[in-house]
Amino acid sequence: MAQKIIIDTDPGVDDTMAIFFALRSPELDVIGLTTIFGNVDTDLATTNALRLLEIAGRMDIPVAKGADHPLTGPFAGGVAFVHGDDGQGNVHLPPPAGRAVDQSAAAFIIEQVMAAPGEITLVPLGPLTNLALALRLEPRIAVNVRQVVLMGGNALCPGNATPAAEANIHNDPEAADVVLGAEWPVTMVGLDVTHRVNMTPAHLDRYDQSDDPLAQHISRIVPHYRAYFEQSYGIQGIYVHDSSAVACAIDPSLFTAQRWPVRVETQGISRGKTWPDNGERPLPPWQGRPLVSVCVGVDADRLLEMELNRLT
Ligand code: RIB
Ligand code: CA
Repeated sequence: MAQKIIIDTDPGVDDTMAIFFALRSPELDVIGLTTIFGNVDTDLATTNALRLLEIAGRMDIPVAKGADHPLTGPFAGGVAFVHGDDGQGNVHLPPPAGRAVDQSAAAFIIEQVMAAPGEITLVPLGPLTNLALALRLEPRIAVNVRQVVLMGGNALCPGNATPAAEANIHNDPEAADVVLGAEWPVTMVGLDVTHRVNMTPAHLDRYDQSDDPLAQHISRIVPHYRAYFEQSYGIQGIYVHDSSAVACAIDPSLFTAQRWPVRVETQGISRGKTWPDNGERPLPPWQGRPLVSVCVGVDADRLLEMELNRLT
């Protein structure tokens, strides 16, 4: 039976690719999208989620709008230089016909998880605020969820939002520390692996050449995103962030992982840095914390082929 997943997302070019990848994966049954600020604000993330489901012909999938600011302060603002003003590479799509359900993202997550104990996987692709709010409202979701497979963090490598921190965690470090400290099975798919999955120009050409409507949409929105990687990292092609978390939910054997307790720095210039304790015995700030599966290795070629074969 396909694994039921809820994707929590801030679309976002790479979120778009990940959502389409999940929709095209028979191992997964996407039962809802919940939205969050990050690449864009939550209103636009919600609009984009609805638009993407319409492009995919999947208006049967509900969208629930999430928090519009982090747990402890205002949202710092989107990253138009990465994803475009519209979060879709500045292609400016028409408004969606549908609308979000009358339920917050946190309430939607709680209702779905509690109605199907042990069945639902949460796949957050943005800041972890909605999951932290859901835990606060209903702590029992931790023991009723199947697993959490998140894109975010940097255990053993530099960040991308700052030298210290990865963007999703940096946008709400307090929420991330709650989510990584809850007693649920969490897999962290962070920059340690996503910066090793490079979708090259030859890979991206396959979207351009495909007549699949999902591939065609990706082909339209990727150029702006690709230019950001060239300017910021000097690479041709793009790093595969959000789709790597979807791939991990489909097939964890693509990754190798270490089991460590993880804390999130909430202060100073390292705000948002995810710190694993990889020593023999956890030190006080990590003591009593659950072990997180931190991905440290990836079969990038197999992952890329899986995604491209399903979307082109
Ligand atoms: O650091 C990568 C993450 O930040 C991805 O989720 C991307 O969509 C951006 O939000
Ligand atoms: Ca994202």
